[in-house]
Amino acid sequence: MSRPLLTVVLAAGKGTRMRSALPKVLHRIAGRSMLGHVLALARSVGGDKLAVVVGPGMDSVRREALATSADASVFVQDNQLGTGDAVLAARAAIAGHAGDLLVLFADTPLLRPETIGKLRAELDRGAAVAVLGFEARDPGAYGRLVTDADGGLVAIREAKDASAAELQIRLCNSGVMAFRLDRPLDVLGKIGNANAKGEFYLTDAIEIVRGGGGRAAVVVCEEDEVLGVNARGELAQAEAIWQRRARQRVMAEGVTLIAPETVWLSFDTVLGQDVLIEPNVFFGPGVTVEDGVEIKANSHIEGARIGAGARIGPFARLRPGAVLGRDVHVGNFVEVKNVAMGEGAKANHLSYLGDGSVGARANIGAGTIFCNYDGFFKHKTEVGEEAFVGSNSALVAPVKIGAGAYVGSGSVITKDVAAGALALERSPQDERPGWAQKFRSMMARRKAAQAK
Ligand code: UD1
Ligand code: CA
Repeated sequence: MSRPLLTVVLAAGKGTRMRSALPKVLHRIAGRSMLGHVLALARSVGGDKLAVVVGPGMDSVRREALATSADASVFVQDNQLGTGDAVLAARAAIAGHAGDLLVLFADTPLLRPETIGKLRAELDRGAAVAVLGFEARDPGAYGRLVTDADGGLVAIREAKDASAAELQIRLCNSGVMAFRLDRPLDVLGKIGNANAKGEFYLTDAIEIVRGGGGRAAVVVCEEDEVLGVNARGELAQAEAIWQRRARQRVMAEGVTLIAPETVWLSFDTVLGQDVLIEPNVFFGPGVTVEDGVEIKANSHIEGARIGAGARIGPFARLRPGAVLGRDVHVGNFVEVKNVAMGEGAKANHLSYLGDGSVGARANIGAGTIFCNYDGFFKHKTEVGEEAFVGSNSALVAPVKIGAGAYVGSGSVITKDVAAGALALERSPQDERPGWAQKFRSMMARRKAAQAK
C-alpha cells in the first residue's frame, strides 16, 4: 500500500430529509459533526491528499472541513446531479494525483480505519476498484451489489433501476469505494445519466471499469458501520451505535461504568484508569479525567480537566475551563466554570464558582457564589490556599481572599481579604432574653379574647 492516496469526501447533498437549517453533514454525533468524523477517518488511514465536495453556498461546511483538516482542498459541486458528478467536482485534485482514489460519503460517519485497510488490500491484490458492501436487514433504497458465481462484483444497481430479481439481493452498496486506476478521470467521464433518477451515478463506474478489462472486488462489513444518515431517526441510531462502541472501548481500557447505557461520551473524552462512573453522566467535548476519579450519578461535564483521585457529584456541573487538581471534591449542585481548583480543594454543596481560582486545600462552604458578572463584564474571584469561605457567602468579583483567611457565613465580600484575616459582613446579632415565653403568652391571651 505504498501508493499515495487521495480521499474525496462527498458532502454536497442537501439533506432535505433532516428538515434542518443546518446542512446535514454538520449535524453532530458524540459532539463532532458527521463531516468531522469522516475527515478524522480520512486522516487516520494516512491519506496524502484530501478533497471535500460541498454544495453552493455551504460556507459553514467549508469552514468545518478546514477547521478539522486545514490542508484539505474544498470543491463546489454547482448542481446536485448525483454522486458521479460530485466526484468530478474534485476533477482538479484527481487530475493531479497518481495513486489510489478513495471516495467517502460525509453522511456515513461510523466507518472504521481497519475497513478502509481491507478495501485497499483488495487493490493491492490487483482489483481496479473495491466496493464496501453489507448485508442489509432491509435493503430498501440501497444500491444492490450484483455478483457473479465466484463472488466477483459485476455491477451496482440502484434500487430504482433494479429488476425484480435484483431487488431480492441483500448485499448492498455502502457508497464507499476505492479505485486503483491509471486514468480515473477517463472512467468517471464515461458515467452517463440515462437512469430512473436522471442522475450521474458513481456506481456506474463498476461496469465501466470491467468493460475496460479491470477487476471489481467487494469487501463486506457490518451494517452498523456503514449506516447512512438521511433523517433524524438515523442520526439518533448512529449516535447510539457510536456510544455503544465508545463505552466498550473505555471499559476495555480500565474504566468502570455501573450502567454503561446511561453514560454519554464525546468523540474526544479521555478517561484514565480506574475511573468509576455512576449512572446518568454526560460528557460534552473537551474532557480529560485522570486516574482513580469517581464521578457520581447525574453529573454533566464539558471542557473540563479532572485531576487524579477527585470526587465529582452527584449532580455536579463542570463547564469549560474547570481545571481540578488532585483529590478535589465537587459535590451536589455545584457549578464550576473557568475556575482552577488546587489540590484537595473542596466545594461540596450548592455553589456557583465562575471565573477565578481556588487554592489548594481551600474549603468553599455550602451556597457560596462567585458573583462574576456585573451585567457587562466578567471579573475574577481568587481564593487563596487553605482559605475557608463560610456558607452562604457572596464573593463579589473582582476580589481576592488571601491564603488561610476566613470569611464568615452569610458575608457579602466586596473588598479583598488579607491572608490569615477574618472577614465578616453581616449585621450584628440582636438577642432578647426570655422574649419567646412573653410572646407566646401574649398571643395566647389575644386568641382567647377573640374566641369569646
Ligand atoms: C448512494 C448510492 C447507493 C448506496 C447508498 C448508500 C449512488 C448512485 N448510490 O445512494 O448505491 O446504497 O448511497 O448510502 O451513489 N452527494 C453529493 N452530490 C450529489 C449527490 C450526493 O455530494 O449530487 C453526496 C451526499 O452529500 C452524500 C452522498 O453523496 O454524502 C450520498 O448521496 P445520497 O443522495 O444520499 O445517495 P443515496 O441515494 O443514498
Ligand atoms: Ca444516502
